[in-house]
Amino acid sequence: MLIDSSGRKLTYLRISVTDRCNLRCTYCMPEEGIKLLDHTGILSYSQIVDFTKTAVSFGITKVRLTGGEPLVRKEISTLIREIANIEGITDLSLTTNGQLLAPMAQELKDAGLHRVNISLDTIDKERYMNITRGGNIERVFEGISQAKKVGLSPIKINCVVEQNSSEADAAAVAGFAKREGLSVRFIRMMDLKKGEFGIVDGGDGGNCAICNRLRLTATGILKPCLFNDLGFDIKELGAETAIRLAVQNKPAKGGCNSSGNFYNIGG
Ligand code: 5AD
Ligand code: SF4
Repeated sequence: MLIDSSGRKLTYLRISVTDRCNLRCTYCMPEEGIKLLDHTGILSYSQIVDFTKTAVSFGITKVRLTGGEPLVRKEISTLIREIANIEGITDLSLTTNGQLLAPMAQELKDAGLHRVNISLDTIDKERYMNITRGGNIERVFEGISQAKKVGLSPIKINCVVEQNSSEADAAAVAGFAKREGLSVRFIRMMDLKKGEFGIVDGGDGGNCAICNRLRLTATGILKPCLFNDLGFDIKELGAETAIRLAVQNKPAKGGCNSSGNFYNIGG
């Protein structure tokens, strides 16, 4: 059992499998893209699986794969299959922008993925293209429909809002979700460097008192908090020590993350 110094039970591991993304959402990445990590710095699938096994043996039961965009990493279903086979995981999910979901939904389901969260900040085709700098909203709609068809459920929508869910785009996403029978979480746009974060409307994110999360970056840094610079290198320290240090040092409350980037921590 992983209990931190504030008495919180840590059961949830979020794994960023890549810093790469096939979109460039205005609130997440600069237009020119990011300085890509050298492939050699990225954890291999066997390193991710070994780490996850150790984390599960200590009490992690819930695992989410994030990015960047997890579906752009080569043969992601291979990783999913291996993680799904770890005894003790009761919830295995993935966060995706949905661009590649439709053609991959069946293989993801077959590999053992339980469910998906799909990012959608507007239902207007033009505005979607502008916010994501080139994304195709039709592909997201097809992705949702395929995910439903193959039984990747429940499907949740992540909707980033400037202020709150009464904004026009957010209200339209809420209407769409209702018609489709999906739940939506509204995530306030954050600036990590400024220490801005808010409670996720409809989800558990941003609520420090009940935070049960650990985050593994694509390069193998185990972070106890998104809103903090602390991180423990699993390659240098080994899984057990990194986990112990992350748990012991998990801050009671978020502060600020001076790297300021979501794409390599996974939001
Ligand atoms: N503020 C809030 N959420 C963000 N995400 C990325 N950048 C930000 C930001 N600046 C989150 C969104 C998106 C997911 C991939 O990452 O939830 O859906
Ligand atoms: Fe890619 Fe998600 Fe960032 Fe958009 S928010 S650029 S989809 S990682």
